[in-house]
Amino acid sequence: MKIQLSKSSQSETVLVAFVVNSKAGKESRSKLTHPTLSQRLKATLDGNEMPTNVSECVIYRDLQFEGYRHVLVVSVSDKPSAESMRQTAATVYSNIKSMKAPTAAIYFDGVPQGKKDTHLLQGLVEGLILSSYSFDELKSKPKTQKEKTETAYTIITKHSTDAAFKKAFNEAHIIAETVNFSRRLGDMPGNLMTPTILANTIVTATKGTGIKATVWDKARIAKEKMGGLIGVSNGSDQEPRFIILEYKGAAASKKPICFVGKGLTFDCGGISIKPSAGMEEMKYDMCGGANVVGAALAIAKLKMKVNFFCIVPATENLAGASATKPGDVHFARNGKSFEVNNTDAEGRLILADALCYASELKPQVIVDAATLTGAMAVALGNTHTGYFTNNDGLKKKIEQASLASGEWVWNMPLCDHHLKDMKGTYADLSNISSGKGAGSATAAAFLSQFVGEDIPWAHFDIAGTAWHIGGRVPYAPKKGASGAMIRTFIELAKMY
Ligand code: BES
Ligand code: ZN
Ligand code: ZN
Repeated sequence: MKIQLSKSSQSETVLVAFVVNSKAGKESRSKLTHPTLSQRLKATLDGNEMPTNVSECVIYRDLQFEGYRHVLVVSVSDKPSAESMRQTAATVYSNIKSMKAPTAAIYFDGVPQGKKDTHLLQGLVEGLILSSYSFDELKSKPKTQKEKTETAYTIITKHSTDAAFKKAFNEAHIIAETVNFSRRLGDMPGNLMTPTILANTIVTATKGTGIKATVWDKARIAKEKMGGLIGVSNGSDQEPRFIILEYKGAAASKKPICFVGKGLTFDCGGISIKPSAGMEEMKYDMCGGANVVGAALAIAKLKMKVNFFCIVPATENLAGASATKPGDVHFARNGKSFEVNNTDAEGRLILADALCYASELKPQVIVDAATLTGAMAVALGNTHTGYFTNNDGLKKKIEQASLASGEWVWNMPLCDHHLKDMKGTYADLSNISSGKGAGSATAAAFLSQFVGEDIPWAHFDIAGTAWHIGGRVPYAPKKGASGAMIRTFIELAKMY
């Protein structure tokens, strides 16, 4: 997206100005915050025709005001937060888009704020860029048409050269663009986002970021004793990939953060095949991988002073002639055996190996993201991401990170009973529960068996929030990948 910070604007097509509504008793007053626009729109103001609900817009076409052709007045909360600014930005974006304006200027200093409230600028910029995402590259429209309608934005603020403002702008830009990068990985269909393509795309994206990328092929994965990942990949002609990103932003003595993400580029369920209705959505089964990579890219581009590893086991789960059969037993990298009693519970098998590998890196924390269980979507729907953790300190950090990011999370229970339900008959573990219910918790309990002792670990089940969140937030597509938890993981990394 074309967007810049500036002290003043040069006669853009549209001026976006803010109106704040305050209530004194029964009286409601609308205050236009642009210094001279209120004069020009005095009649309207007196007539009480300003938008009053937060994010509501009124367009004044052809107003010819101070060099601007049109004016868009948008109502903003009198106590705005970064999240309310993200949401207001989404409304601004969709209105400007429908106006097909080549340029637009947003009068940021009109946002009610403290002297240097950079998080509001950050929310505004993130909201605009996140809203600009669309996935239409597979439609045969000429590319030039898109370029023609793309609006160049200028954010007008007298603090435009202030270091803190520039930093917030830059941060918002990097974060939102990487969220859009990850959304695209999710939205690509399985045939165009195979494990190999996923790995190549990620490697290309790391160029110039300081991240060292390593990709293992099937032979290397087998040599590394990753029986879970090999077992799942055996049903497909596509080779699996094990993707390792490493970044050193801090002293070598500082222990790394480890991100792990499920990279199932298509999940038909394997021999325990899924019903056909809605199966096409299983191209999104790599969103955990896509989203941890998004967080990793952003952290490196922001030059954060942390060391991290980001690990994505990538494979398809198909039902080919060599596919894992129900009852088959595989051995994970740490030597633990598991019976595959349902080949559709495959995410936990590939994560098992990845979590073993992550644990060997002696990290200070492991955070994983996975579209792991349909049960998670049943429990929490598409609003909150459920997370499980073995560590109270980490739980506090996650809650704090979620408050800062504006992404909702919910702590889920994980106890010995869940683990008991995952005991195997013929092997150490079964990949499905012997009990009823709590399918997300028993899956998490399975994962816990591959995390090194005493390593703080959190597992985020994004099955309900990774795609098709249906307008829960206006800056994410109603249909398509959301980029869930990328912003939260970036906030989390700031705490290490
Ligand atoms: N990828 C699915 C989980 C999923 C389902 C995510 C629907 C989003 C929407 C996962 O691999 C899976 O199929 N899990 C099974 C586990 C079961 C067999 C124990 C499930 O949730 O049904
Ligand atoms: Zn599955
Ligand atoms: Zn799956």
